[in-house]
Amino acid sequence: MEDRKKVVLTGMQPTGLLHLGNFLGAANNWQKMLDRYACYFFIPNQHAITVPQVPANLRDATLNCVAQYIACGLDPERCTIFVQSHIIGHTELAWILSCLTPLGLLYRMHQFKDKSAKNENIYSGLLYYPILMAADILLYNADLVPTGEDQRQHVELVRDLAEKFNTTYSETFTIPAPLIEKTGARIMSLKSPEHKMSKSDPDSNATIYITDDSKMIQKKIAAAVTDSESSISADPTRPGITNLLNIYCSATGIALAEGKEKFRTYATYAPFKKEVAEVLIGLLEPVQEKYRTIKDDKKYLQSVIQRGAETVQPIANKTIAKVYRKVGFLDR
Ligand code: TYM
Repeated sequence: MEDRKKVVLTGMQPTGLLHLGNFLGAANNWQKMLDRYACYFFIPNQHAITVPQVPANLRDATLNCVAQYIACGLDPERCTIFVQSHIIGHTELAWILSCLTPLGLLYRMHQFKDKSAKNENIYSGLLYYPILMAADILLYNADLVPTGEDQRQHVELVRDLAEKFNTTYSETFTIPAPLIEKTGARIMSLKSPEHKMSKSDPDSNATIYITDDSKMIQKKIAAAVTDSESSISADPTRPGITNLLNIYCSATGIALAEGKEKFRTYATYAPFKKEVAEVLIGLLEPVQEKYRTIKDDKKYLQSVIQRGAETVQPIANKTIAKVYRKVGFLDR
């Protein structure tokens, strides 16, 4: 019988305040996993520099991301929180995996295609990004990688790379499984619901941030794009109302079918929107309260990531030593 707890590893880029997609698609699910799994939540700051960053802002955003993780319920007494660049091993393993990765696979990644279409200057780090992500996951032999839907393709690539390494050398890496919830995994923009909610949306009403107060949430939900019908339903031809229903179901933890049934008799959108906003306000209130109390306590936040680094560095060292031996590098 296996007595090792399954390993969960995942992270969010430190690029500002988390939005409702990051919360419902990711952090809110992660905090439910703390007792059942050995959880590693890290801050992928090495990923963040695949697009230009102001160094001082990146530093602040990294520590602030720790505060947001904790505020979202990732209790550092019950999980490990660390910063990617503190650990020696991520980029080392990424290099080795890159030597097993056909370029064509990287060019096929949706996120690379999207980001490279939007930016004029494309650097190789952006293309190489999913390999670093593979290293993040394989370094700790993660069993499960909980993310939103947009990361599915990357996690599939990680599985392929782990299998490739295992067959090229010998059994080394656990093959990780993506863990993507049915509702909440793809929260869409409130203003153009055919696009996913994102931090980079120029329309501030399109995105709810986890620090938005109740008035702001009410206002944004009331102004969310819907359609000229009136029934509350999930239907690909009606992305606005589908998104709101999805948000409600994810926030309350009910299935989509149950949500549809609950609102079956509603004849207009206004009362439904009001309920969506109320649920979000209730869900985010404790997050905001916790965030306010810890966000400026740099000493505490530093101590959390210091402890995290001390916990994971030995694991990373062990994997790197094993991998170096397998690929034929001399022991030091
Ligand atoms: P990032 O920082 O873009 O997003 C963090 C998490 O939020 C989820 N997410 C969403 N979920 C639902 N609806 C949305 N609109 C939405 N937007 C974002 C993402 O799916 C993700 O779970 N490459 C990763 C970071 C990373 C990583 C890793 C994750 C680097 N290495 C290893 C897992 C394992 C990223 O850029 O996520």
